[in-house]
Amino acid sequence: MSPNATAEPAALRLHGVACTFAGKDGASPRYTAVRDVSLTVGAGEFVSVVGPTGCGKSTLLNVAAGLLAPSAGRVEVFGAALTGINRRAGYMFQSESLMPWRTALQNVMAGLEFRGVPDARALAGEWLRRVGLGGFGDRYPHQLSGGMRKRVSLAQTLVLDPDIILMDEPFSALDIQTRQLMENEVLDLWAGAGDARRAAPGGSAAPRGGRREAPEDRSSRKAVLFITHDLDEAIAMSDRVVCLSAGPASHPIGEFAIDLPRPRDVAEVRATGRFNELHTAIWGVLREEVLKGYQQQLAA
Ligand SMILES: Nc1ncnc2c1ncn2[C@@H]1O[C@H](COP(=O)(O)OP(=O)(O)OP(=O)(O)O)[C@@H](O)[C@H]1O
Ligand SMILES: [Mg+2]
Repeated sequence: MSPNATAEPAALRLHGVACTFAGKDGASPRYTAVRDVSLTVGAGEFVSVVGPTGCGKSTLLNVAAGLLAPSAGRVEVFGAALTGINRRAGYMFQSESLMPWRTALQNVMAGLEFRGVPDARALAGEWLRRVGLGGFGDRYPHQLSGGMRKRVSLAQTLVLDPDIILMDEPFSALDIQTRQLMENEVLDLWAGAGDARRAAPGGSAAPRGGRREAPEDRSSRKAVLFITHDLDEAIAMSDRVVCLSAGPASHPIGEFAIDLPRPRDVAEVRATGRFNELHTAIWGVLREEVLKGYQQQLAA
C-alpha cells in the first residue's frame, strides 16, 4: 500500500475491477481480460504495472482514464467516484497519437485550445522548450524522429498540468539510448527538476523559481501510473512495481516497494546491487506468467 494512502485520499484507486469483452463474433465466448484488480496510486507516487503481453495492462489504463467503464468494480480519483472521463489525468498512449496535420506546436496547443486557455501558444512553446524541442515547433510529426515525436507527446500531456499521469509503454518503440534519455527526462520533469537541469547543463545554477525538490518530497509531484512490460524500466523509474498475472482474468500477483534512492539515473541505477536484488525477486514472480502469456499468444 502507498505510504500516503492512509493520510490522504489516493490519487487513483481501483477496487475489484473486472473487464469483460464480447467475443470476436456472436458465437465465440466473452473474454474476461482482468478480474479482481485492486490497485492504488498515492498522491505523488510513481507506480509501474508490469505483466505479460496481452494480459490487460492497456485495458486497466483505459479504465483509469475513464475511457472504458469496468464490467465490475469501481474507480476513485482523489476519493471521488469516477463516472466519465478522468479529468484529473493526462494520458500518453502506447501508439503514436499526434495529429499528423498539425505542427508540433499545434499538437501541444490542442488540449489547451479545447479548454479555451487564452495563452495556449505561449504555454505550448514553453513546454516544447522544456522537452528540448524549442526549435522544432513548426515541424509536422512526419518531419520528426520517433524520439522527438515522443517528446511532443510528453509535452502534450504535461502542458495540461494533470494531477495524474497515465503512461502506456510510452517509450517501447525507441532505441535503448533514446529510451534511457527519455526515461531520465520523465523522472526529472516528475521531480520538478527538469527546468533546472536544462537551464544549467552543469547542474550548478539555481533552479527556476528556486524549485528543486528534496528527493523524498512528494507534495508537488504528480501521481504516475506507468505501464510497461520491461521490468528494468519499471524498477528504474518507480516507487512501487505491481506485477500482473497472464490472462484471462489477469490480476495483481505481487507488489514490490522500490527503495532505490532518488534522484536516479536509469542507466546508472541498473548497475547497482540493490537493483539486481529487486530484479531477481520480481522476476521470480513474473517469469512463469510471461512464459504463459507468450504460449497463449502462440496458440491463439
Ligand atoms: N475492445 C476490446 N474488445 C475485445 N477484446 C479486447 C478489447 N480490448 C482488449 N481486449 C483483449 O483483452 C486482452 C488485454 O488487452 P490489453 O490491450 O489490455 O493487453 P496489454 O497487456 O496492454 O498487452 P500489450 O503488452 O501487448 O500492450 C487481450 O486479450 C485483448 O485482445
Ligand atoms: Mg498494451
